[in-house]
Amino acid sequence: MASEAMTERIKMALASHERPTVTVLSSLFAVHDALGHLPQEAIEEVAAFNNVTINDVWGVASFYTNFRFTPAPDHTVEVCWGPTCHIKGSTAIMSGCMEVLGLDGEGDTDNGKVSLKYNTCLGACSRAPVVSIDHRLRGGITPEDMKERVSGLMTDTDGTHA
Ligand code: FES
Repeated sequence: MASEAMTERIKMALASHERPTVTVLSSLFAVHDALGHLPQEAIEEVAAFNNVTINDVWGVASFYTNFRFTPAPDHTVEVCWGPTCHIKGSTAIMSGCMEVLGLDGEGDTDNGKVSLKYNTCLGACSRAPVVSIDHRLRGGITPEDMKERVSGLMTDTDGTHA
């Protein structure tokens, strides 16, 4: 995306966010919601918008691990790492995911297709083990089923396979 177009999208996100109190954090959320990540231009625009320094904005943005600073991959896979899912086999599910994705832990695949994350609890413990694929929960999943689904995401050509 051209930098000018990116800056315009950031300004629109900042101008349209509806939080009652505008802060650096609410501004960062507005841009992150709109773009899916925080490019360098976002840090600069949020600083200008809130009349603070770029360092002030980095201080907030870098504190929150949920903010991305690079574009998100096509798909997001979260494996629940909570106690119930652990007892029900999340270790084998995570290992299978890492094997298929060629990762050693959380992270993005080299082809930019999949982002793999741990989640402390996906809030559906009675369905353990639970995963989230592109923000859709799937409970009672087996390691074999998960490997098959994740393989599908890696070869997906239209960004919709889940
Ligand atoms: S521990 Fe996995 S959903 Fe709660």
